Order: sequence, then C-alpha cells, then structure tokens
Amino acid sequence: MLVSGGGSNLAALLAARSDPAFGARVVGVLSDDPGAGGLDLARAAGVATVVVRPADFADRAAWDVALAAAVGVFSPTLVVSAGFMRILGASFLARFAGRVINTHPALLPAFPGAHGVRDALAYGVRVTGCTVHLVDEGVDTGPIIAQRAVEVLAADDEASLHERIKTVERALLVDVVGRVARGALTVEGRHVRLG
Ligand code: GAR
Repeated sequence: MLVSGGGSNLAALLAARSDPAFGARVVGVLSDDPGAGGLDLARAAGVATVVVRPADFADRAAWDVALAAAVGVFSPTLVVSAGFMRILGASFLARFAGRVINTHPALLPAFPGAHGVRDALAYGVRVTGCTVHLVDEGVDTGPIIAQRAVEVLAADDEASLHERIKTVERALLVDVVGRVARGALTVEGRHVRLG
C-alpha cells in the first residue's frame, strides 16, 4: 500500500483483516514522506514499512525505479495507492501495470489531481463522491472500477466535505480490495469487471 498522509484508508483495510472472509492482507506500507501518519498505523499493526523519498534520488525517474524495487520486495498481488500524493512513473507501471489501483475523492473524470474536493466545491457541484480506479500513466485517468456519490451540503467547506467523502471512500476501497482478492479483476478497454 502507498500512502503519503494520515492513512485512514489504510486503517480501514487493516481493520478488515479481522474478518477471515475478507481475503486480503496488507503486506507492506510504503511512503514518499517519513512523517506520513499511515506509517505509524502500519507499524502499530505489525506491517512492514518503507520510505522512499524523492529527495534521495537524482531525478523522478530514479525515484520511480527505487519505489518499484521497494514494492517488488513484497511481491504484492495488488498495489493500492490511497492518499499517495505522487505520480507513479513509467518504470513502476511497467512492473505493476494492471494491478495498481488508486482512490480519489471525486467522481472522475471530474476533478482529477491533488485537490479533487476543493475543485468540486469551487465548481459548485451538488453531488461529488469518490472513485477507485486502475492507475495508468495519466493523472487519475485509468479505467474506473467503482464509484460512490456524496451530496454536497450548503454548509460544506473542504474539510467537512472531505470527511464525509472519506467515510464513503473507505467502505468502497475495502469492498473493491476484498472483491479483487476473492475474485478476478478483468479489464476490457475502459471497462472493468470484478469477480
Ligand atoms: C483520500 O481522500 C484520497 O482519496 C485522497 O487523499 C485522502 C487520503 O486519506 N487522495 C487524493 O486526493 C489523491 N489525489 P487517508 O490518508 O486518510 O487515507
């Protein structure tokens, strides 16, 4: 699992392990940021952690190769990016293509990028939500696996809306990861089938 932030999505996946029928387990947590709260959650749960900092590499491509190597050590079936605020590059995707998923706090293809909640709010949409999608070389452009809608309330600011989205997002991510672990994920063009 790849995280840059607090790791509430990671926490939800770690909690899901207590259900033996869930079918998936988190084998490792990697971050670009040694201060990411998700790393503490992983350590507390006894899950291995690795930090691969861009600042330690000559360029983005070298960092990407190192990240791919660090993830490869865990031989993951699926790579889950949740709040990982870096673009995965060509080397990473060449190695893990088709089995990297990302969760995004908006209904893609609307509001991709680092500020999905802020951008949706600024645009004035009445409904936004979250998307779990396969990662390709673009920014939040890969085939969509699952989405859920969240209503925007008149009193919402970015923080309140993001919190409500995250509640829905965690459940969606756990559902998708469990279904991938228990079944198959097939992709035909832009269409993804689970199980
Ligand atoms: C999630 O809402 C995720 O969709 C978002 O960051 C949050 C991470 O929360 N990701 C992006 O905005 C990526 N563009 P978490 O650290 O509590 O799991």
